[in-house]
Amino acid sequence: MKIQSAKFQTSAPSLDHCPGWMRREFAFVGRSNVGKSSMINLLTNRNGLAKVSALPGKTQMINFFVINDDWSLVDLPGYGFAKVTKDRKFGFSELIRDYIERRENLAGVFVLVDSRLPPQRIDLEFLEWLDGCGVRHVLVYTKADKVTPAKVRATVDLMLAEIAKWRPEPPEVIVTSSKSGNGRVDVLRSISRLLQS
Ligand code: GTP
Ligand code: MG
Repeated sequence: MKIQSAKFQTSAPSLDHCPGWMRREFAFVGRSNVGKSSMINLLTNRNGLAKVSALPGKTQMINFFVINDDWSLVDLPGYGFAKVTKDRKFGFSELIRDYIERRENLAGVFVLVDSRLPPQRIDLEFLEWLDGCGVRHVLVYTKADKVTPAKVRATVDLMLAEIAKWRPEPPEVIVTSSKSGNGRVDVLRSISRLLQS
């Protein structure tokens, strides 16, 4: 899979503002600061295409990037950052839920989780909810440059054991680092497969 062109298209504050095209889209979602925007820059080999920040909560809208004039990468706001009130059912926003439940041209979701952390409740809640939506998804570990491969493997195993509680088949898992570029080709291969299926 070659990225020939990558263009920022638009930012949408709600599902109604999302582009009305039928291009297939791949969304990147996960906790604030996990590295979603960095991953989009890594995949496209364009630093600064998606805005990155050391402070969580940088991405607030749904951002669309058109790749090869054919399909799109979608940078979603992070979850688990804004204060969650007790009466809210999920820790992730209505914007994210709306987009994932109702976006008809959504071809796959990449769920990013931090390689340094044991399974986080909010990630597990999100993954279980996503599974219930019937949307195809891939689990992507980020920031693998910050831990040893053995530690990442142990963390992945813990996560898969949790996921096995609601889903018989484990999801595809890709370990990445936006810093070293590890995992880039694997994510692109995964997109390629989803485009062909
Ligand atoms: P929000 O938009 O706030 O939800 O964050 P995000 O998930 O888009 O994260 P972003 O890409 O802005 O990265 C957050 C911070 O983590 C930045 O300081 C990045 O430089 C850093 N970062 C992201 N990916 C990696 C990685 O693979 N390795 C290392 N070492 N740092 C990373
Ligand atoms: Mg971001």
